[in-house]
Amino acid sequence: MPHRPTVVLTGASRGIGHATVKRFSDEGWRVITCSREEVPEHCRRDPNWTHHIVADLGDPESRAAFIAAANRILENGPLHALVNNAGVSPKTPFKERLGCLNGDIAGWRTVYELNLFAPLVLARGFAAGLARAKGAIVNITSIAGHAVHPFAGSAYSTSKAALSGLTRELAVEFAQLGVRVNAVAPGEIETAMLSPETEVLIPRIPLNRLGSPEDVSAIVFRLCTPEMAYITGSEIFVTGGQHLL
Ligand SMILES: NC(=O)c1ccc[n+]([C@@H]2O[C@H](COP(=O)([O-])OP(=O)(O)OC[C@H]3O[C@@H](n4cnc5c(N)ncnc54)[C@H](OP(=O)(O)O)[C@@H]3O)[C@@H](O)[C@H]2O)c1
Repeated sequence: MPHRPTVVLTGASRGIGHATVKRFSDEGWRVITCSREEVPEHCRRDPNWTHHIVADLGDPESRAAFIAAANRILENGPLHALVNNAGVSPKTPFKERLGCLNGDIAGWRTVYELNLFAPLVLARGFAAGLARAKGAIVNITSIAGHAVHPFAGSAYSTSKAALSGLTRELAVEFAQLGVRVNAVAPGEIETAMLSPETEVLIPRIPLNRLGSPEDVSAIVFRLCTPEMAYITGSEIFVTGGQHLL
């Protein structure tokens, strides 16, 4: 069988993750994924999407089981890319922003387990395979990690700011392994994560529209290809220019 590159991607069942799986698969990569739900039925027919492992990456035991299962599939072979995409952005049911003075503090831990600790633990867990391939990691951060956002809450925004910082830290350490680490920071992308009120933000977006999951998956894929060989520790904004204002 001809050699194909392999990607491990988290949060594949819908949204940006689902579009990113499709992009890698269309480019001929073998795709290994996880999320808490099974993948949609029609996606099971994709021959490149070889493995989907049901796991809760916010739970340390389930996370460890996922890493072990994916590494068994890799069989000590190379891993060309790790995309840390799964994330959670809790909202109140009554249009009040979850800030620092309201909401349950335990909720912050839940957000940090998935949005920050999972990318860290997965980077460690797949370091050997990534080093074998001289591969790449892409962390999905957020515009909300760079300025106070009207809808995204404080736990989410600070966890994403920390993930931007983690990207820097990883980039320098993983460079010694020949592995590049970058981040992609989406703005307002049309997925289940968006608040229904998000359309009011469109006038604040210079390109005057919401983004699509494919707008994000395009740059995630490119960052994992060898032509990006000199780019590490960068964070690319996919915001239609919203981060400039
Ligand atoms: N949409 C935006 O505008 C936007 C903006 C900035 C940043 N982002 C970031 O982009 C990434 C993807 O967002 P999205 O909008 O595509 O979100 P989404 O539509 O809510 O999808 C999230 C994905 O993550 C998975 N997931 C959630 N919790 C998980 C857990 N505990 N363990 C494993 N998988 C889990 C979900 O699957 P299951 O429910 O099956 O587990 C789903 O596949 C996130 O990191 C998000 O913070 C999004």
